[in-house]
Amino acid sequence: MAVALLASLLLALLLLVPSPLSAGGDAHPGYPSGEGTCTVDSDAGGGGFWLRERGPAGRIIDITHAYVPDLPAFAPGAVAGPVVRLKHSMAEGSEYNLSELRMECHTGTHVDAPGHINQDNFAAGLDVDTLDLDVLNGPALLVDVPRNTNITAEAMEFLKIPKGVRRVLFRTLNTDRKLMWKKAGDLSYVGFTEDGAQWLVDNTDIKLVGVDYLSVAAFDHLISAHVVFFKNPDIIPVEGLKLDDVPAGIYNLHCLPLRLVGAEGSPVRCILIK
Ligand SMILES: *[C@@H]1O[C@H](CO)[C@@H](O)[C@H](O)[C@H]1NC(C)=O
Ligand SMILES: *[C@@H]1O[C@H](CO)[C@@H](O)[C@H](O)[C@H]1NC(C)=O
Repeated sequence: MAVALLASLLLALLLLVPSPLSAGGDAHPGYPSGEGTCTVDSDAGGGGFWLRERGPAGRIIDITHAYVPDLPAFAPGAVAGPVVRLKHSMAEGSEYNLSELRMECHTGTHVDAPGHINQDNFAAGLDVDTLDLDVLNGPALLVDVPRNTNITAEAMEFLKIPKGVRRVLFRTLNTDRKLMWKKAGDLSYVGFTEDGAQWLVDNTDIKLVGVDYLSVAAFDHLISAHVVFFKNPDIIPVEGLKLDDVPAGIYNLHCLPLRLVGAEGSPVRCILIK
């Protein structure tokens, strides 16, 4: 009852407050006069306030997997879901539907924080809330890793990723095998080997390492490759990305983790803008 009341009160308030973006000529007091509309062209300059809708050139590609019960669980035999559970249900007489969210922080598309496999980083408070949004958002390169190999030093050398590139999404055999679509975890996935991780650290400027299965490290190098990455707390692995049917190339990447204070991982919404 209280919730329903509060909701209608909020709605009433929202309807009363004029939205600055719907002004259409009536300049908002916060912005220089006449520039409070959405129609001013970006070339007009003047440093005023304007918004321009993205044209067809700015296509958004969602590279996040949906959080469903059938997401793969890393440990063989484990299950990821149910992720969302109805706690109060109108079908059962409640006045509202209210769900709770329950999953491991490393389920589906997610980021690792530097404390994941490094006790010093964890003790230093380097949780997911401290991750650098400047690393998580910016130009990124999507590359295809040769399908006959894990991400070894040799594979990294072969890819010839130019210096200065800070964000790379590595598409591998995992995408072809549709591993993220299979509920049963598959430990034969492709990931970084220890020497591949070391090669990346020594020879590139990459700070965001995106991969297409649940772990940045191949299973045979599960701990050792993570250890190499997390010796560099400015490197952020983004795992479980949905890279199906996205052409290789350069995009603007946007990844926003939840501010889970104290957690060493978080689900993340990642999109590419072309
Ligand atoms: C509330 O949840 C029940 C059970 O899932 C569903 O049948 C019903 O349509 C939901 N009601 C609303 C208003 O979403
Ligand atoms: C990658 O390494 C895993 C073991 O970590 C292995 O099962 C898999 O076959 C390797 N994949 C390729 C393509 O070499």
